[in-house]
Amino acid sequence: MARRKLIAGNWKMNGSVAALAELDGIAAAAAHAPGVDVAIAVPATLIAPAAQRVPALAIGAEDVHMAASGAHTGCISAEMVAAAGATFTIVGHSERRADQQESDADVKGKAAAARRAGIGAILCVGETLAERDAGDAESVVTGQIAGSLPDGAAADWLSIAYEPVWAIGTGRTPTVADVAAIHGAIRAKLAVLIGDEAVRMRLLYGGSVTPDNARELLGADDVDGALVGGASLTAAKFVPIIEAGAA
Ligand code: 13P
Repeated sequence: MARRKLIAGNWKMNGSVAALAELDGIAAAAAHAPGVDVAIAVPATLIAPAAQRVPALAIGAEDVHMAASGAHTGCISAEMVAAAGATFTIVGHSERRADQQESDADVKGKAAAARRAGIGAILCVGETLAERDAGDAESVVTGQIAGSLPDGAAADWLSIAYEPVWAIGTGRTPTVADVAAIHGAIRAKLAVLIGDEAVRMRLLYGGSVTPDNARELLGADDVDGALVGGASLTAAKFVPIIEAGAA
């Protein structure tokens, strides 16, 4: 089945109000690529100014707490980012799984929080280099899917991003065949968990996506978009990736 491509950016802990000027060119390119959905996740402090600056672009958060409110100093809820103008959030990014010791259960709770707040979610999974070298990539990734997929998982609000940890920010990418194999395994696992809805769910690839490799990676079987870190920080690099998604 034909799934609409989703090209999503993740600014991580980068950016400033001045850097939001990059969103102007990104929004203009998105307007000229009507067949593709474009979204950018930004640091929490930039959600409101970004949403105000480019109302046509989907602006998202990079993380949310699972609770709606409460005694969680320093945390931000899905309801709060929604009120600031976010229409989606990333959950379970490997940097948070590693740095904040987020478990699959935590990620599942965060995805459920997004649904509760009425926003979308991009749920990230991916193996480490040691896990890949041990031949465990597929079992690790499908295990993360089983452990972190929220109740009510459906394609109209949830996408999955496969981001091999060893490919993030390193300039290394898996082969197209390797990406297709893992995406196929993810979709097969989703079919077991959510039945026919698995065919509609978008599976993004993330990890060192650039203007140079985007077209090839986006052409792999079962790849329905990209989650882009470094190359999403400037229109000069992100716009060609949007165009690759539209091709
Ligand atoms: P890079 O594109 O910088 O490798 O980052 C990928 C990523 O982690 C997106 O969430």
